[in-house]
Amino acid sequence: MRYCTLGEMNASRIVMGCMRIGDKPLEQTEKVIVNACSGGVNMFDLADVYGGGNCEKVFGVAMRDLEIPRKNYILQTKCGICKDGEGNIHRFNFGKDYILNSVENSLKRLNTEYIDILLLHRPDTLVDTDEVGEAFERLQEDGKVRAFGVSNFSAMQMKLFRSCGIEIVANQMQFSLGHTAPVDAGFNVNMYKEESVTRAGDAMEYCRLRKIPVQAWSPLQYGFFKGVFVGNDRFPVLNKELDRQAEKYGVSPSAIALAWILRHPAFKQVVTGTTSPERMTELCKAGDVMMSHEDWYALYLATGKILP
Ligand SMILES: NC(=O)c1ccc[n+]([C@@H]2O[C@H](COP(=O)([O-])OP(=O)(O)OC[C@H]3O[C@@H](n4cnc5c(N)ncnc54)[C@H](OP(=O)(O)O)[C@@H]3O)[C@@H](O)[C@H]2O)c1
Repeated sequence: MRYCTLGEMNASRIVMGCMRIGDKPLEQTEKVIVNACSGGVNMFDLADVYGGGNCEKVFGVAMRDLEIPRKNYILQTKCGICKDGEGNIHRFNFGKDYILNSVENSLKRLNTEYIDILLLHRPDTLVDTDEVGEAFERLQEDGKVRAFGVSNFSAMQMKLFRSCGIEIVANQMQFSLGHTAPVDAGFNVNMYKEESVTRAGDAMEYCRLRKIPVQAWSPLQYGFFKGVFVGNDRFPVLNKELDRQAEKYGVSPSAIALAWILRHPAFKQVVTGTTSPERMTELCKAGDVMMSHEDWYALYLATGKILP
């Protein structure tokens, strides 16, 4: 496993995502955590909304059962997405009281004294950045949150926050061989093509400029949670190339898909959402693959994208 710098922390490049653990047997989740740690993972990603709060609860119980010392892992959670009683998203909220309340509730559910990194989940267009700054200051002073980051933010949105004195240690964005939007526009600058549209708001370039690590979410999904592309008949060319490289590098095709993300200089981390202990062991090997320049492009082209 390779590691990267996240604020003042030394974090594994593979992060265990906990969005799908809410309805899984506790014993299974504990095995995934154990295998992740054995594979070198030292960071876990959650959110107040995952499983309606249940994912944070399950994680808290699992870590207590496993007796993993709190200082041995980096705990990241998020706030800012509000859901109604039926679990549907009805607004985004970066209000001071909302942030402070959310953190209190997360700390209780997670059964911990502090959160290492708090991400603002999705941009709230009504944000008052001064309020966010006040909330962050209070949380840091009280020792409840060590560092802050964002998720799904464009370059200008990050710039706005930073101009108000808010330090950002990470941006979490969707990126995979089934969702290449963050890099497509960079290949097609100044052209009349669909791919020329800057969908990721220059976030990668800005993050590289400011040395803010980007974390990739849903590394094996295509579209917006449409399914997994690995082993999927809808993507024969891509799977043929994944299989070829899996053999070459001696890891599974899914690990190759993660290694492809980590080969990009902006994407310092990938957040995997598997709930299978065996898959977790296999995916951790992606953290050691040094994919060649040529193989990275071969996979990009295998998605059906064309270089100009
Ligand atoms: N910031 C954001 O807006 C945002 C949005 C979404 C997610 N996230 C974060 O990103 C994490 C990952 O998201 P995700 O769960 O959608 O990502 P993912 O790793 O692309 O997908 C995991 C899902 O794919 C399934 N799967 C099927 N075949 C697989 C294979 N060969 N290898 C591995 N998994 C396979 C897994 O099933 P099994 O469990 O059976 O392996 C699981 O249901 C989340 O846990 C969350 O922490 C963040």
